[in-house]
Amino acid sequence: MIFYLIYISSAVKLMTEYELLLLLRQSQKKNAELAITGMLLYKGGNFMQMLEGDEKSVRELYTAIRKDNRHKGVLTIITGNIEKRNFNDWSMGFHNMDKVADLPRYENYIKEHLTLHSFQHDVEQAFEFITSFEVGNR
Ligand SMILES: Cc1cc2nc3c(=O)[nH]c(=O)nc-3n(C[C@H](O)[C@H](O)[C@H](O)COP(=O)(O)O)c2cc1C
Repeated sequence: MIFYLIYISSAVKLMTEYELLLLLRQSQKKNAELAITGMLLYKGGNFMQMLEGDEKSVRELYTAIRKDNRHKGVLTIITGNIEKRNFNDWSMGFHNMDKVADLPRYENYIKEHLTLHSFQHDVEQAFEFITSFEVGNR
């Protein structure tokens, strides 16, 4: 079984593309070592991330991520077990949704939902939402 965890958080300041890239490269390197896969979404100063892998590894990484001073208000939305990974073969997918031109079909959905706390009331939707993203690197 694969353990997964989805959380949302707020960047302490708006992130530049370069800062996001650094964060992503750092994450991909370490996740590959830990056999952790997932998806990181960024939109207007908010993050949403899904981590998947061995439960102990995911929980330890999450403890480190929570302490990262680039974001605050880290809120666990849902945790659980799945039979197989959603983001296999990729240490951490990423979509910067401020570039919504890349993702037209999600635009309204994203505008409505990807703000802090809005997923808390519908955790299954959070799962559906984040796993619907294809691995990409924008
Ligand atoms: C929103 C956000 C998501 C992050 N995601 C990951 C991640 O998936 N994997 C990772 O290793 N670090 C991630 N980090 C970075 C960690 O908080 C931390 O800086 C990093 O794991 C430390 O790596 P080190 O052991 O090389 O010092 C994330 C940070 C933020 C702010």
